[in-house]
Amino acid sequence: MAATEHSLFAAGLARSAAEVEARLALHLDRAGAAGTPPRLLAAMRHAVLAGGKRFRPFLVLEMARLLGGREAVADAIDVAAALECLHAYSLVHDDLPAMDNDELRRGQPTVWKAFDEWTAILAGDALLTLAFEILAGNASSGNVSAPGLPPAIRANLVARLAAAAGPAGMVGGQMLDLEAEKLGEPASPDEQHVRRLQGMKTGALIAFAAEAGAIAAAGSSEAVVAARTYGEAIGLAFQISDDLLDVTGDVATVGKAVGKDLALGKATLVAVAGVETARAHLAAAVDKAIAALAPFGDAADPLRQAALFQLEREH
Ligand code: IPE
Ligand code: IPE
Ligand code: MG
Ligand code: MG
Ligand code: MG
Repeated sequence: MAATEHSLFAAGLARSAAEVEARLALHLDRAGAAGTPPRLLAAMRHAVLAGGKRFRPFLVLEMARLLGGREAVADAIDVAAALECLHAYSLVHDDLPAMDNDELRRGQPTVWKAFDEWTAILAGDALLTLAFEILAGNASSGNVSAPGLPPAIRANLVARLAAAAGPAGMVGGQMLDLEAEKLGEPASPDEQHVRRLQGMKTGALIAFAAEAGAIAAAGSSEAVVAARTYGEAIGLAFQISDDLLDVTGDVATVGKAVGKDLALGKATLVAVAGVETARAHLAAAVDKAIAALAPFGDAADPLRQAALFQLEREH
């Protein structure tokens, strides 16, 4: 990725992050005004507002822009906000002592460390449910007015997010991840098993991001399929690069613990096939993501850059 491309992508990511953070802050304020207990609200704010790349919101908003222009981006902002709440919940629970037992996230203490375990469990639960409240569009009371997505599109997105986040999606992938680590099952995971695990735990939400942007923009069925193919490939690339960062990254830049996965017996591509093979799979997934954007022409360059970013990201 050339230096100019990199800085263009970084600027685009920062712009969409600022937009979604403002929206998330509004939703959290509204949840506070609706009666969320202060300790719970503080933990939710810590989980959602204390940093993060906002990569999934970027995919939602850029895909919406590609297929529907500025108006579609405005309509998709709550899809992006809902997905980020759900992602934040997944991280809060992922970091719990019973799961990955991590104390650092986005350069800050994890929610259970900053508060306690029971508050972290409840903050995760609250963010999961808040995500669906936002996506369903019922968050229009108080000072948050919902953008204009038609009810049928909202219903479609609610069903798809539930599938992506649920037992055959992110939660199922977390199950496979922890079964491998804690139960040693399967005894020797192969590449195919790791691919399935990663497609579920990380790929499903990232594929949703791209697909949801296309659906929110009322893209054609061909465009929605292409967006999903792109999202699945970039989702796989994203988790492989996360696993590589665990091996090659440094804690100050990554903002979370590194060097843990191999020691714990996590089923990663690095563990089953080594760093070089993992890098080759990463490059192949990035190529696949870029190939899926062919029908969209030059206007898809920000999404191409998002794929290339996976080859070199440092956090
Ligand atoms: C971390 O996700 C968890 C994975 C699925 C690998 P991110 O790398 O998107 O974390 P933040 O949101 O930027 O902190
Ligand atoms: C987490 O994968 C994926 C989630 C569904 C949260 P990791 O456990 O590798 O994510 P990090 O490295 O803690 O961010
Ligand atoms: Mg984990
Ligand atoms: Mg983890
Ligand atoms: Mg990781």
